[in-house]
Amino acid sequence: MSSVESRRNFIGVLPIAGVIAVGGSHMLLAQGKKEKTGEQEVSTNEDLMREHGLLKRVLLAYDEIIHRIRAKQEFAPRTVTDGATIIRKFIEEYHEKLEEDHLFPRFRKAGKLVSLVDTLLKQHQAGRRVTDRILATASSLKTQDDRSRLASDLEAFNRMYAPHEAREDTVLFPELHKIISPHEYDALGEQFERIERKTFGGDGFDIYVDKVTAVEKQLGIYDLNQFTPK
Ligand SMILES: [Fe+2]
Ligand SMILES: [Fe+2]
Repeated sequence: MSSVESRRNFIGVLPIAGVIAVGGSHMLLAQGKKEKTGEQEVSTNEDLMREHGLLKRVLLAYDEIIHRIRAKQEFAPRTVTDGATIIRKFIEEYHEKLEEDHLFPRFRKAGKLVSLVDTLLKQHQAGRRVTDRILATASSLKTQDDRSRLASDLEAFNRMYAPHEAREDTVLFPELHKIISPHEYDALGEQFERIERKTFGGDGFDIYVDKVTAVEKQLGIYDLNQFTPK
């Protein structure tokens, strides 16, 4: 049982006054709905952080492509377009939109980590421009110049996003607990799940884990055993 589930169950047996104190009838309704659909609970930060795990897997695929280009080895251009499409659809148009619509405004309103939020937003915007270039270059990879340009853009993307997501995981997301109530935190996780289902017509995370797995298999980096030192 996840901590959220155990917390919800605990809240469920509190006296009514206690329930009202932490958010009232909405929470009871939300809890009832979850039990009916039998869905797995994912808290707000777990949701965002596992999306970062998916982003990291694309960054690792990009690393492999960069290595192949620098070593003048072949790779299927499709792995670049598929990887960049995962970034566009799942990270830029979904995950970052959640951060921009639901997290960043709350931090600004609370006057917390505002300069970090400014930087993170600028990086989202810069990342979208780099993805535009990656998709354009990958669609016509003719010369070594094209391949070098692609490698530079992939490097720029990775250089920015590895620290970007690590900072969100270790600074921004933990701080969220301090600026919103436990009730708002739970309600936000539920809102994220509704947006996810509406955006992808189902569990977007599962759909995109399969897509990133396919890219890794095509690049030969799926089997984890190959990375264990001898
Ligand atoms: Fe972000
Ligand atoms: Fe993020």
